[in-house]
Amino acid sequence: MRPVTKTVLKTALGLGLAGAGVLGWASLVERNAFVLRRFDVPVLPDGAAPLRVLHLSDLHLLPRQRAKRAWVHSLASLDPDLVITTGDNIAAPDAVPALLDAYERLLGIPGVFVLGSNDYFAPKLKNPLGYLTRNFAKGVGTTQRLPTADLVRGLGSRGWVDLTNRRDTLTVRGLRVDVRGVDDPHLGYDRLDLVRGPASPDADVTLSVTHAPYQRVLDAYAADGADLIVAGHTHGGQVCVPGYGALVTNCDLDTSRVKGLSRWWPGAGSTPSSQAPADAAWLEVSAGLGTAPTAPVRLACRPEATLLTLVPRSQA
Ligand SMILES: [Fe+2]
Repeated sequence: MRPVTKTVLKTALGLGLAGAGVLGWASLVERNAFVLRRFDVPVLPDGAAPLRVLHLSDLHLLPRQRAKRAWVHSLASLDPDLVITTGDNIAAPDAVPALLDAYERLLGIPGVFVLGSNDYFAPKLKNPLGYLTRNFAKGVGTTQRLPTADLVRGLGSRGWVDLTNRRDTLTVRGLRVDVRGVDDPHLGYDRLDLVRGPASPDADVTLSVTHAPYQRVLDAYAADGADLIVAGHTHGGQVCVPGYGALVTNCDLDTSRVKGLSRWWPGAGSTPSSQAPADAAWLEVSAGLGTAPTAPVRLACRPEATLLTLVPRSQA
């Protein structure tokens, strides 16, 4: 064999092995390497005691995923004051009992929830790397329905408040919390007209939630004076480039806000961060805890839950 041919074959073999190694890591190791992120968010009145908010999103749970169920179950030991789930809880018609089992200890704590497209429709088989290329405007890819009513009934029966195109006011550890949410904007189910308006006059803090962080929703929430906006859906980009970050958000949010804590104000999508007003809302986007079962890989983007500690604004 000529030396050049030998070199080409060696290189191809090396690249193939490296690719298989990365795929193995992404599908077998990182996809199950759950991590808890923590952020302090200065949104409370002066003198208020800290409020601990646990945010879960995008479990895409299958009953066989025992490690994920156990990890979520263990989060109750954080002793949060409020739990927020931002949808895409399940990934199969028989997953609701497993989900309620995973949430069992958390359901004894005050909570609010909105739904994502994967709480309505089952995923369909597709290219695992399609997350990087598919048009985010395509919405749902199948018409097989999931047991959404069972899911909503299961969460609501223990007292969690359904914020699907609804707003409410909760009292949590003595604080009046204005909460509002929309149905999934990725499906065009959001009815902002039902939740718009200024916060209750006696509210100490305003929390606004959505599954998918589309700009039209974030703009409306910020214009109405939201202190904190909480969202999921992006999976943090799911398949990211090590040292660079996300390539996509699966919606019209920019990749700099694909996960973690940032700021949002009306029109933020078309103005630089340096022009953020002092009263801009805080935006927390979760990279979520799962993947669609048809695309079971995560790279440079560990599955996560978030513990937000709300503290007085003076601590900013
Ligand atoms: Fe999701």
